[in-house]
Amino acid sequence: MTATDPRLARLKGIAPSILASDFGRLRSQCEEVVAAGATVIHIDVMDGHFVPPITMGPIVVDALKGIDAVLDVHLMIERPERQLADFAKAGADVLTVHAEATPQLHFALQQARELGALAGLALCPGTGTAPVTENAGLLDLALCMTVNPGWGGQKFIPTSPDKIARIAGQIGPGTVLQVDGGVDLSTIGACAAAGATSFVAGSAVFGTPDPGEAVRALTAAAGR
Ligand code: DX5
Ligand code: ZN
Repeated sequence: MTATDPRLARLKGIAPSILASDFGRLRSQCEEVVAAGATVIHIDVMDGHFVPPITMGPIVVDALKGIDAVLDVHLMIERPERQLADFAKAGADVLTVHAEATPQLHFALQQARELGALAGLALCPGTGTAPVTENAGLLDLALCMTVNPGWGGQKFIPTSPDKIARIAGQIGPGTVLQVDGGVDLSTIGACAAAGATSFVAGSAVFGTPDPGEAVRALTAAAGR
């Protein structure tokens, strides 16, 4: 999408990840964090191949339609270009694909935009930043994984801020820089200082007794 896409501004800030939510009351949990100021809901899609677990598909995105938030779909799946249309149809606002998941990265990013979504590119901790540089013109969001993808509740990789800063130097001001994994009150400040503008948080939001209060505290800790 263009730099004027209104979803880009809303994408910044805390992005609660429903992976850590109570699925029995998924919609009300999302409404709770939106009421606390979250403008994004992060949806972790896992296929049992790219990462071992299997989580959710387009049907869950569809179930969140109408929530007043950007639906941010993080595809931890192989050959994501084959699934983009289904997620777009279900209502995804952001389609993030992993650099490691397809030999057709340029095509996948183009497809995401052609389908009317914002295009995101995710990098695993062991992947260098070259894919971001190569595809900079196609990106609305760059996602720096700060844990290895696949599970919530992991420990933030301490060398991540250096990598975040490197990515920040390779993207334009119109691209959102997202971090994901182990983001909590003790790590979010370093991510923000390194240049991150979007902060995925699962356990640190839905793993707490008061997810709304957690969103407010994380927002303050990010200096936003
Ligand atoms: C992990 C997922 C994350 C996960 C983060 O592979 O991409 O979005 O939900 O969970 P926490 O915040 O608990 O590390
Ligand atoms: Zn994620």
